[in-house]
Amino acid sequence: MLQPMPATRVLIPRDRIAHRVAELGAQLTADLLQAQRTGTDGRIVLVPVLTGAMLFVADLVRAMPVKLSIRPVTLSSYPGTATSSQGVTIQGGVPTDLAGAHVVVVDDILDSGQTLALLNRLMLAQRPASVRIAVLLRKDASTGRRVEHVEVDYVGFDIPDEFVIGYGLDYDGFYRNLPDVCVLEPS
Ligand code: IMP
Ligand code: MG
Repeated sequence: MLQPMPATRVLIPRDRIAHRVAELGAQLTADLLQAQRTGTDGRIVLVPVLTGAMLFVADLVRAMPVKLSIRPVTLSSYPGTATSSQGVTIQGGVPTDLAGAHVVVVDDILDSGQTLALLNRLMLAQRPASVRIAVLLRKDASTGRRVEHVEVDYVGFDIPDEFVIGYGLDYDGFYRNLPDVCVLEPS
């Protein structure tokens, strides 16, 4: 049966997302080329966190006209319908050949910080030339939900402490295909 999409309120419309992602791509490209010129001439490897960062990274790389490779990793912190982090499990794909590379970890949202803190440690352990972290969204930490401090280098949007869906973000595996970042309305 065809099921309708849920009631939502648009938090960030698609045109603002597109504009901001293009800006982030341009900034990242400039910074990475600068790092290759003045620092270590390492290759550029983007490490998107699946599944949430799928749409973000797809748009981001098309705003990065530079030689790069994409090495997705699968982590999970939200089993089923939970809407707060339950601890992070690695499900696969973590590259082990990042020595000397300029690594960019790409995720949909910084919430508790556990996902990115873990990935950052896994990347740094391989002695890359550099590690940068890019997130589309950063959730307000004033409510105490950030349990691990993570230094994020590129942020698309700071958002309030609300559960969001769309543009890659899911609730129980669904609604990633909404083109805007939305807040679920109580039905
Ligand atoms: P953290 O480890 O708690 O920072 O959580 C990061 C992961 O939790 C993200 O990659 C998302 O997949 C998921 N997540 C956190 N907040 C939300 C939300 O508001 N909507 C959907 N997924 C979220
Ligand atoms: Mg995720």
